[in-house]
Amino acid sequence: MIWNIVLLLLSKKLKSKSVMANLSTTYMGLKLKNPIIIGSSGLTNSVENIKEAAANGAAAVVLKSLFEEQILHSAAHTLMQNEGSNYYPEAEDYITNYTRSSDLDKYLKLIRDSKKAVDIPIIASINCISSREWTDFAKKIEEAGADALELNIFVLPSDPTKSGEQNEALYFDILEKITKTVKIPISAKVSYYFSGMAKMALKLSWTGISGLVLFNRFFSPDIDIDRFEVKATNVFSTPAELSTSLRWVAMLSSQVQCDIAASTGIHDGKAVIKQLLAGAKAVQVASVIYKKGFKEVQLMLDEIAVYMDQHNFKTLDQFIGRMSVKKAENPAAYERVQFMKHFSGIE
Ligand SMILES: Cc1cc2nc3c(=O)[nH]c(=O)nc-3n(C[C@H](O)[C@H](O)[C@H](O)COP(=O)(O)O)c2cc1C
Repeated sequence: MIWNIVLLLLSKKLKSKSVMANLSTTYMGLKLKNPIIIGSSGLTNSVENIKEAAANGAAAVVLKSLFEEQILHSAAHTLMQNEGSNYYPEAEDYITNYTRSSDLDKYLKLIRDSKKAVDIPIIASINCISSREWTDFAKKIEEAGADALELNIFVLPSDPTKSGEQNEALYFDILEKITKTVKIPISAKVSYYFSGMAKMALKLSWTGISGLVLFNRFFSPDIDIDRFEVKATNVFSTPAELSTSLRWVAMLSSQVQCDIAASTGIHDGKAVIKQLLAGAKAVQVASVIYKKGFKEVQLMLDEIAVYMDQHNFKTLDQFIGRMSVKKAENPAAYERVQFMKHFSGIE
Protein backbone atom coordinates (compact mmCIF):
# COMPACT_ATOMS: atom_id res chain seq x y z
CA MET A 1 0.00 0.00 0.00
CA ILE A 2 2.70 2.49 1.09
CA TRP A 3 4.84 1.39 -1.85
CA ASN A 4 1.92 2.10 -4.21
CA ILE A 5 1.57 5.62 -2.82
CA VAL A 6 5.32 6.23 -3.15
CA LEU A 7 5.15 4.97 -6.73
CA LEU A 8 2.23 7.20 -7.54
CA LEU A 9 4.04 10.26 -6.17
CA LEU A 10 7.26 9.37 -7.97
CA SER A 11 5.52 8.73 -11.28
CA LYS A 12 3.60 12.04 -10.93
CA LYS A 13 6.94 13.76 -10.35
CA LEU A 14 8.39 12.04 -13.41
CA LYS A 15 5.43 12.99 -15.56
CA SER A 16 5.56 16.58 -14.37
CA LYS A 17 9.22 16.76 -15.40
CA SER A 18 8.20 15.20 -18.76
CA VAL A 19 11.03 12.71 -18.44
CA MET A 20 8.85 9.59 -18.69
CA ALA A 21 11.06 6.82 -20.00
CA ASN A 22 10.36 5.22 -23.34
CA LEU A 23 8.91 1.80 -22.46
CA SER A 24 8.35 0.59 -26.02
CA THR A 25 9.64 -2.78 -27.15
CA THR A 26 9.24 -5.15 -30.06
CA TYR A 27 8.01 -8.69 -29.63
CA MET A 28 7.60 -11.12 -32.53
CA GLY A 29 8.02 -8.16 -34.88
CA LEU A 30 5.08 -6.38 -33.25
CA LYS A 31 5.69 -2.87 -31.94
CA LEU A 32 4.46 -2.70 -28.37
CA LYS A 33 4.13 0.56 -26.45
CA ASN A 34 5.39 -1.23 -23.33
CA PRO A 35 6.35 -4.81 -22.37
CA ILE A 36 3.14 -5.83 -20.55
CA ILE A 37 0.82 -8.22 -22.39
CA ILE A 38 -2.31 -9.68 -20.80
CA GLY A 39 -1.86 -13.45 -21.01
CA SER A 40 -4.40 -15.81 -22.52
CA SER A 41 -7.14 -16.43 -19.95
CA GLY A 42 -10.73 -15.57 -19.05
CA LEU A 43 -9.46 -11.97 -18.79
CA THR A 44 -9.28 -11.77 -22.56
CA ASN A 45 -12.38 -13.62 -23.68
CA SER A 46 -14.63 -10.61 -24.26
CA VAL A 47 -14.39 -7.28 -26.07
CA GLU A 48 -15.34 -5.46 -22.83
CA ASN A 49 -12.38 -6.96 -20.96
CA ILE A 50 -10.02 -6.25 -23.83
CA LYS A 51 -11.14 -2.62 -23.91
CA GLU A 52 -10.51 -2.38 -20.16
CA ALA A 53 -7.06 -3.94 -20.57
CA ALA A 54 -6.16 -1.42 -23.28
CA ALA A 55 -7.58 1.52 -21.30
CA ASN A 56 -5.37 0.53 -18.36
CA GLY A 57 -2.20 0.52 -20.43
CA ALA A 58 -1.75 -3.11 -21.56
CA ALA A 59 0.42 -3.20 -24.67
CA ALA A 60 -1.29 -6.25 -26.23
CA VAL A 61 -3.59 -9.10 -25.30
CA VAL A 62 -3.49 -12.80 -26.01
CA LEU A 63 -7.06 -14.02 -26.44
CA LYS A 64 -8.36 -16.92 -24.38
CA SER A 65 -7.24 -20.12 -26.12
CA LEU A 66 -9.63 -21.97 -28.27
CA PHE A 67 -9.21 -25.57 -27.16
CA GLU A 68 -9.15 -28.41 -29.62
CA GLU A 69 -10.40 -30.65 -26.82
CA GLN A 70 -13.24 -28.24 -26.05
CA ILE A 71 -14.51 -28.37 -29.62
CA LEU A 72 -14.26 -32.14 -29.79
CA HIS A 73 -15.91 -32.41 -26.38
CA SER A 74 -18.85 -30.13 -27.35
CA ALA A 75 -19.46 -32.19 -30.46
CA ALA A 76 -19.29 -35.44 -28.50
CA HIS A 77 -21.65 -33.98 -25.88
CA THR A 78 -24.30 -33.07 -28.49
CA LEU A 79 -24.07 -36.54 -29.92
CA MET A 80 -24.31 -38.15 -26.48
CA GLN A 81 -27.37 -36.10 -25.51
CA ASN A 82 -29.11 -37.47 -28.55
CA GLU A 83 -28.00 -41.01 -28.03
CA GLY A 84 -30.56 -43.46 -29.34
CA SER A 85 -31.46 -41.15 -32.19
CA ASN A 86 -29.58 -43.53 -34.45
CA TYR A 87 -27.82 -40.85 -36.41
CA TYR A 88 -26.54 -41.74 -39.80
CA PRO A 89 -22.78 -41.31 -39.94
CA GLU A 90 -23.42 -38.26 -42.17
CA ALA A 91 -25.53 -36.70 -39.40
CA GLU A 92 -22.74 -37.29 -36.89
CA ASP A 93 -20.32 -35.59 -39.25
CA TYR A 94 -22.73 -32.70 -39.60
CA ILE A 95 -23.05 -32.24 -35.82
CA THR A 96 -19.31 -32.44 -35.30
CA ASN A 97 -18.66 -29.97 -38.09
CA TYR A 98 -21.48 -27.67 -37.01
CA THR A 99 -20.22 -27.54 -33.40
CA ARG A 100 -16.72 -26.91 -34.60
CA SER A 101 -17.70 -24.13 -36.97
CA SER A 102 -19.98 -22.44 -34.44
CA ASP A 103 -17.17 -22.34 -31.82
CA LEU A 104 -14.75 -21.16 -34.45
CA ASP A 105 -17.14 -18.48 -35.75
CA LYS A 106 -17.54 -17.06 -32.25
CA TYR A 107 -13.78 -16.91 -31.91
CA LEU A 108 -13.31 -15.20 -35.27
CA LYS A 109 -15.97 -12.66 -34.30
CA LEU A 110 -14.07 -11.94 -31.05
CA ILE A 111 -10.94 -11.22 -33.11
CA ARG A 112 -12.78 -8.94 -35.54
CA ASP A 113 -14.66 -7.06 -32.81
CA SER A 114 -11.54 -6.64 -30.66
CA LYS A 115 -9.58 -5.29 -33.60
CA LYS A 116 -12.29 -2.66 -34.12
CA ALA A 117 -12.51 -1.80 -30.42
CA VAL A 118 -8.84 -1.23 -29.50
CA ASP A 119 -5.63 -0.18 -31.18
CA ILE A 120 -3.27 -2.60 -29.44
CA PRO A 121 -2.14 -5.88 -31.06
CA ILE A 122 -4.52 -8.81 -30.70
CA ILE A 123 -2.76 -12.16 -30.45
CA ALA A 124 -5.05 -15.14 -31.01
CA SER A 125 -4.36 -18.39 -29.19
CA ILE A 126 -5.12 -21.98 -29.95
CA ASN A 127 -4.49 -24.97 -27.78
CA CYS A 128 -3.28 -27.83 -29.92
CA ILE A 129 -3.18 -31.46 -29.00
CA SER A 130 -2.70 -32.59 -32.57
CA SER A 131 -1.85 -31.05 -35.92
CA ARG A 132 -5.13 -32.21 -37.48
CA GLU A 133 -7.59 -29.42 -36.81
CA TRP A 134 -5.68 -26.24 -36.94
CA THR A 135 -4.14 -25.44 -40.24
CA ASP A 136 -7.39 -24.24 -41.89
CA PHE A 137 -8.37 -22.43 -38.79
CA ALA A 138 -5.03 -20.64 -38.47
CA LYS A 139 -5.68 -19.21 -41.94
CA LYS A 140 -9.10 -17.96 -40.84
CA ILE A 141 -7.59 -16.37 -37.74
CA GLU A 142 -5.17 -14.50 -39.96
CA GLU A 143 -7.98 -13.37 -42.26
CA ALA A 144 -10.03 -12.18 -39.27
CA GLY A 145 -7.22 -9.71 -38.55
CA ALA A 146 -5.26 -11.21 -35.65
CA ASP A 147 -1.83 -9.63 -35.41
CA ALA A 148 -0.17 -12.88 -34.34
CA LEU A 149 -1.01 -16.39 -33.26
CA GLU A 150 0.16 -18.09 -30.07
CA LEU A 151 0.11 -21.87 -30.06
CA ASN A 152 -0.45 -23.24 -26.62
CA ILE A 153 0.99 -26.72 -26.98
CA PHE A 154 1.38 -29.16 -24.17
CA VAL A 155 1.80 -32.87 -24.02
CA LEU A 156 2.12 -34.23 -20.49
CA PRO A 157 4.86 -36.85 -20.85
CA SER A 158 2.79 -39.33 -18.84
CA ASP A 159 2.61 -42.21 -21.29
CA PRO A 160 5.37 -44.64 -20.24
CA THR A 161 5.40 -46.24 -23.68
CA LYS A 162 6.43 -42.98 -25.34
CA SER A 163 9.94 -41.58 -25.42
CA GLY A 164 10.67 -37.90 -24.98
CA GLU A 165 11.42 -37.69 -28.68
CA GLN A 166 8.04 -39.16 -29.61
CA ASN A 167 6.23 -36.66 -27.38
CA GLU A 168 8.26 -33.80 -28.75
CA ALA A 169 7.65 -34.75 -32.39
CA LEU A 170 4.11 -33.42 -32.04
CA TYR A 171 5.40 -29.90 -31.36
CA PHE A 172 7.39 -29.88 -34.57
CA ASP A 173 4.56 -31.42 -36.54
CA ILE A 174 2.15 -28.68 -35.44
CA LEU A 175 4.64 -25.84 -35.88
CA GLU A 176 5.78 -26.99 -39.30
CA LYS A 177 2.21 -27.13 -40.60
CA ILE A 178 1.07 -23.82 -39.13
CA THR A 179 4.17 -21.77 -39.95
CA LYS A 180 3.71 -22.88 -43.57
CA THR A 181 0.04 -21.87 -43.56
CA VAL A 182 0.06 -18.28 -42.29
CA LYS A 183 2.19 -15.16 -42.63
CA ILE A 184 1.39 -13.56 -39.26
CA PRO A 185 4.00 -14.15 -36.55
CA ILE A 186 3.61 -17.41 -34.62
CA SER A 187 4.71 -18.09 -31.06
CA ALA A 188 4.83 -21.31 -29.09
CA LYS A 189 3.77 -21.23 -25.46
CA VAL A 190 5.27 -24.23 -23.75
CA SER A 191 5.96 -25.80 -20.39
CA TYR A 192 9.26 -26.95 -18.90
CA TYR A 193 8.41 -30.66 -19.07
CA PHE A 194 11.17 -31.50 -21.53
CA SER A 195 14.05 -33.83 -20.84
CA GLY A 196 16.40 -31.53 -22.77
CA MET A 197 14.87 -28.14 -22.08
CA ALA A 198 17.63 -25.99 -23.62
CA LYS A 199 17.99 -28.05 -26.80
CA MET A 200 14.22 -28.26 -27.21
CA ALA A 201 13.85 -24.48 -26.88
CA LEU A 202 16.57 -23.96 -29.47
CA LYS A 203 15.01 -26.46 -31.86
CA LEU A 204 11.60 -24.83 -31.42
CA SER A 205 13.12 -21.45 -32.23
CA TRP A 206 14.56 -22.85 -35.47
CA THR A 207 11.12 -23.77 -36.82
CA GLY A 208 10.43 -20.23 -38.02
CA ILE A 209 8.41 -19.12 -35.01
CA SER A 210 8.87 -15.51 -33.89
CA GLY A 211 8.30 -15.98 -30.18
CA LEU A 212 8.60 -18.44 -27.32
CA VAL A 213 6.46 -17.98 -24.23
CA LEU A 214 8.19 -19.37 -21.14
CA PHE A 215 6.19 -20.84 -19.44
CA ASN A 216 2.56 -21.80 -19.46
CA ARG A 217 1.11 -22.67 -16.07
CA PHE A 218 -1.34 -25.51 -15.81
CA PHE A 219 -4.24 -26.85 -13.88
CA SER A 220 -2.66 -28.30 -10.71
CA PRO A 221 -4.29 -31.29 -9.06
CA ASP A 222 -4.94 -31.75 -5.37
CA ILE A 223 -6.79 -34.47 -3.43
CA ASP A 224 -9.82 -33.91 -1.21
CA ILE A 225 -8.94 -36.47 1.47
CA ASP A 226 -12.52 -36.85 2.79
CA ARG A 227 -14.40 -36.96 -0.48
CA PHE A 228 -11.70 -39.00 -2.23
CA GLU A 229 -11.82 -36.61 -5.14
CA VAL A 230 -9.21 -34.97 -7.32
CA LYS A 231 -9.72 -31.22 -7.42
CA ALA A 232 -8.00 -28.11 -8.75
CA THR A 233 -5.65 -26.16 -6.53
CA ASN A 234 -3.61 -22.96 -6.78
CA VAL A 235 -5.41 -21.69 -9.82
CA PHE A 236 -3.46 -18.44 -9.56
CA SER A 237 0.29 -18.11 -9.34
CA THR A 238 2.20 -16.43 -6.53
CA PRO A 239 5.22 -14.11 -6.91
CA ALA A 240 7.42 -16.96 -5.62
CA GLU A 241 6.83 -18.80 -8.90
CA LEU A 242 8.86 -16.25 -10.84
CA SER A 243 12.20 -18.06 -10.50
CA THR A 244 11.61 -20.98 -12.84
CA SER A 245 10.86 -18.82 -15.84
CA LEU A 246 13.50 -16.26 -14.77
CA ARG A 247 16.18 -18.98 -14.77
CA TRP A 248 15.25 -20.25 -18.22
CA VAL A 249 14.75 -16.84 -19.79
CA ALA A 250 18.23 -15.86 -18.57
CA MET A 251 19.74 -19.11 -19.86
CA LEU A 252 17.99 -19.14 -23.23
CA SER A 253 17.49 -15.53 -24.28
CA SER A 254 20.90 -15.14 -25.89
CA GLN A 255 20.68 -18.52 -27.63
CA VAL A 256 17.23 -18.90 -29.19
CA GLN A 257 16.51 -17.47 -32.61
CA CYS A 258 13.29 -15.73 -31.64
CA ASP A 259 11.97 -13.35 -29.01
CA ILE A 260 11.00 -14.56 -25.57
CA ALA A 261 7.96 -13.48 -23.57
CA ALA A 262 8.16 -14.44 -19.90
CA SER A 263 5.11 -15.79 -18.15
CA THR A 264 4.30 -17.08 -14.63
CA GLY A 265 4.71 -15.36 -11.30
CA ILE A 266 5.00 -11.80 -12.62
CA HIS A 267 3.02 -9.79 -10.09
CA ASP A 268 4.69 -6.37 -10.00
CA GLY A 269 6.93 -3.98 -11.88
CA LYS A 270 10.07 -5.38 -10.28
CA ALA A 271 9.29 -8.84 -11.64
CA VAL A 272 8.87 -7.33 -15.12
CA ILE A 273 12.25 -5.58 -14.77
CA LYS A 274 13.89 -8.87 -13.69
CA GLN A 275 12.51 -10.69 -16.72
CA LEU A 276 13.67 -7.91 -19.05
CA LEU A 277 17.13 -8.01 -17.47
CA ALA A 278 17.14 -11.78 -18.02
CA GLY A 279 16.43 -11.15 -21.70
CA ALA A 280 12.66 -11.25 -22.23
CA LYS A 281 11.35 -8.77 -24.80
CA ALA A 282 7.92 -8.71 -23.14
CA VAL A 283 5.99 -10.37 -20.33
CA GLN A 284 2.54 -11.90 -20.02
CA VAL A 285 0.48 -11.48 -16.86
CA ALA A 286 -2.74 -13.13 -15.71
CA SER A 287 -2.94 -14.04 -11.99
CA VAL A 288 -2.12 -10.57 -10.66
CA ILE A 289 -4.84 -9.08 -12.85
CA TYR A 290 -7.36 -11.68 -11.67
CA LYS A 291 -6.46 -10.84 -8.09
CA LYS A 292 -6.13 -7.05 -8.27
CA GLY A 293 -7.72 -5.85 -11.51
CA PHE A 294 -6.47 -4.25 -14.73
CA LYS A 295 -5.40 -1.08 -12.89
CA GLU A 296 -2.36 -3.06 -11.76
CA VAL A 297 -0.85 -2.68 -15.25
CA GLN A 298 -0.38 1.07 -14.80
CA LEU A 299 1.25 0.58 -11.39
CA MET A 300 3.70 -1.89 -12.91
CA LEU A 301 4.50 0.54 -15.73
CA ASP A 302 5.06 3.34 -13.21
CA GLU A 303 7.43 1.10 -11.27
CA ILE A 304 9.43 0.38 -14.43
CA ALA A 305 9.60 4.08 -15.31
CA VAL A 306 10.85 4.96 -11.83
CA TYR A 307 13.53 2.24 -12.05
CA MET A 308 14.64 3.49 -15.47
CA ASP A 309 14.90 7.02 -14.16
CA GLN A 310 16.94 5.87 -11.14
CA HIS A 311 19.36 4.00 -13.40
CA ASN A 312 19.36 6.58 -16.13
CA PHE A 313 17.98 4.21 -18.75
CA LYS A 314 16.14 5.97 -21.57
CA THR A 315 14.97 2.86 -23.40
CA LEU A 316 14.31 -0.78 -22.53
CA ASP A 317 17.01 -1.89 -24.99
CA GLN A 318 19.59 -0.41 -22.63
CA PHE A 319 18.91 -3.16 -20.11
CA ILE A 320 17.07 -6.01 -21.85
CA GLY A 321 19.36 -9.05 -21.53
CA ARG A 322 21.88 -7.32 -19.27
CA MET A 323 21.57 -10.16 -16.74
CA SER A 324 21.31 -13.02 -19.23
CA VAL A 325 23.68 -15.93 -18.82
CA LYS A 326 25.92 -14.40 -21.47
CA LYS A 327 26.26 -11.05 -19.74
CA ALA A 328 25.75 -11.63 -16.01
CA GLU A 329 28.81 -11.41 -13.77
CA ASN A 330 27.90 -14.64 -12.00
CA PRO A 331 26.10 -16.75 -14.63
CA ALA A 332 26.81 -19.94 -12.64
CA ALA A 333 24.07 -18.87 -10.22
CA TYR A 334 21.47 -19.72 -12.87
CA GLU A 335 22.88 -23.21 -13.24
CA ARG A 336 23.11 -23.78 -9.51
CA VAL A 337 20.44 -26.20 -8.33
CA GLN A 338 21.72 -27.62 -5.05
CA PHE A 339 21.63 -25.64 -1.81
CA MET A 340 25.32 -25.35 -1.00
CA LYS A 341 26.10 -22.94 1.82
CA HIS A 342 28.27 -20.80 -0.42
CA PHE A 343 25.30 -20.06 -2.72
CA SER A 344 22.30 -20.09 -0.42
CA GLY A 345 23.89 -18.27 2.51
CA ILE A 346 22.14 -20.58 5.01
CA GLU A 347 22.72 -23.95 6.73
C1 LIG B 1 -7.97 -18.82 -15.01
C2 LIG B 1 -6.85 -18.97 -16.00
C3 LIG B 1 -7.14 -19.35 -17.31
C4 LIG B 1 -6.10 -19.52 -18.23
N1 LIG B 1 -6.39 -19.89 -19.52
C5 LIG B 1 -5.37 -20.03 -20.42
C6 LIG B 1 -5.64 -20.35 -21.78
O1 LIG B 1 -6.78 -20.51 -22.20
N2 LIG B 1 -4.58 -20.48 -22.61
C7 LIG B 1 -3.28 -20.31 -22.21
O2 LIG B 1 -2.37 -20.43 -23.03
N3 LIG B 1 -3.01 -19.99 -20.94
C8 LIG B 1 -4.01 -19.85 -20.04
N4 LIG B 1 -3.73 -19.51 -18.75
C9 LIG B 1 -2.31 -19.33 -18.36
C10 LIG B 1 -1.92 -17.84 -18.35
O3 LIG B 1 -2.00 -17.26 -19.63
C11 LIG B 1 -0.50 -17.66 -17.84
O4 LIG B 1 0.42 -18.21 -18.76
C12 LIG B 1 -0.28 -18.33 -16.49
O5 LIG B 1 -1.38 -18.11 -15.62
C13 LIG B 1 0.99 -17.82 -15.80
O6 LIG B 1 0.95 -16.43 -15.64
P1 LIG B 1 0.56 -15.74 -14.24
O7 LIG B 1 1.52 -16.20 -13.24
O8 LIG B 1 0.65 -14.26 -14.52
O9 LIG B 1 -0.85 -16.17 -13.95
C14 LIG B 1 -4.76 -19.32 -17.82
C15 LIG B 1 -4.49 -18.91 -16.51
C16 LIG B 1 -5.52 -18.74 -15.60
C17 LIG B 1 -5.18 -18.30 -14.19
